[in-house]
Amino acid sequence: MEQTLFVKKLIEKTKQNVKTIVLPEGEDERVLKAAHEVAQIKAAKLIILGNEAEIKSYFANNNWNLDGIEIIEPEKSPDLQKYADMFYEMRKEKGVTPEDAFKQMHNYNYFGTMMIKAGKADGMVSGAAHSTADTVRPALQIIKSKKKGRSVSSAFIIVSNDKPYVFSDCAIIIDPTAQELADIAIDASETAIQFGIEPNVAMLSFSTKGSAKHEKVTKVVEATKLAQEQLKLPEYKDLGIKIDGELQLDAAVDSVVAAKKAKGSEVAGKASVLIFPDINAGNIGYKLCQRIGGAEAYGPFLQGLNAPVNDLSRGALVEDIVGMIAITCIQAQ
Ligand SMILES: CC(C)(COP(=O)(O)OP(=O)(O)OC[C@H]1O[C@@H](n2cnc3c(N)ncnc32)[C@H](O)[C@@H]1OP(=O)(O)O)[C@@H](O)C(=O)NCCC(=O)NCCS
Repeated sequence: MEQTLFVKKLIEKTKQNVKTIVLPEGEDERVLKAAHEVAQIKAAKLIILGNEAEIKSYFANNNWNLDGIEIIEPEKSPDLQKYADMFYEMRKEKGVTPEDAFKQMHNYNYFGTMMIKAGKADGMVSGAAHSTADTVRPALQIIKSKKKGRSVSSAFIIVSNDKPYVFSDCAIIIDPTAQELADIAIDASETAIQFGIEPNVAMLSFSTKGSAKHEKVTKVVEATKLAQEQLKLPEYKDLGIKIDGELQLDAAVDSVVAAKKAKGSEVAGKASVLIFPDINAGNIGYKLCQRIGGAEAYGPFLQGLNAPVNDLSRGALVEDIVGMIAITCIQAQ
């Protein structure tokens, strides 16, 4: 399948600093095809977890070489016991026994996540055959948030008419508090910067600048204030991040509406990072753009983790997996 312009640009960026990505779903044909494609264009080094003989024969039957690809069978790996010991040490206070830890390492999502922890890989892409929770939970337990006490959230990059936007959070934090929503806004603005998207952040609501009154609006107003406060911290000072809210979607992205509804806002009319008030709005919002609006959707990928672990949709196509591997490499750079 033809790569989109956005994926082509991502691939170019991955080649500037090649990363190693672990793919724990070696039994899935789409994953093998994506691995072959990525390895051929040298966008990443790959480690596939799965049955070595079967994967080798799949590649041989297609006349594909395995350059840039390592295959590991967790059950036969000399690292299995080491990772189990590491996991036990990390989780013993949570009631995990050495036996539990050894058993857990037979789960490829856990083994793959442990490879990142041990420095053998820079990131992981999974979820073609697993639920979001099963993919994400090992990362939350093992890789953990970059900032202590702060929730990990997720983002999508939505490309419409060649213009990329960051949408967040559409997949992880179901009903964020005002503080969590503020953190989502800050993390999404950093995601935008990582991908060369202007960090103009709109805190979305069904109200613009006090046009409606409701506790759901109040939460967004509070989150906006908290996020704007965070922007004063030295680490964010020179990043050019602008955050404003509460804004309706039209006021956020349409300059004519913005001029009427949110005069004087630095963000209204030119928002490229859209923060949704909860996962209902976010999940429905991105799917509307993708399924009815015809936009390209890349994600969800996690933000705020110590190393990137990303979840695929179970309906993912080979090209989606290639795009997600590229995104994961860029997050790891
Ligand atoms: C992300 C998600 C899977 C985590 O749920 P879970 O596995 O039940 O999580 P738990 O509450 O058991 O927590 C497991 C660990 O992760 C941590 N954790 C959970 N959510 C976290 C977050 N957002 N950020 C950081 N850590 C988090 C917990 O603190 C816990 O850590 P600990 O075991 O070291 O104490 C859950 O938030 C979820 O289901 N979200 C919606 C996902 C979804 O269905 N999306 C659909 C659209 S794609």
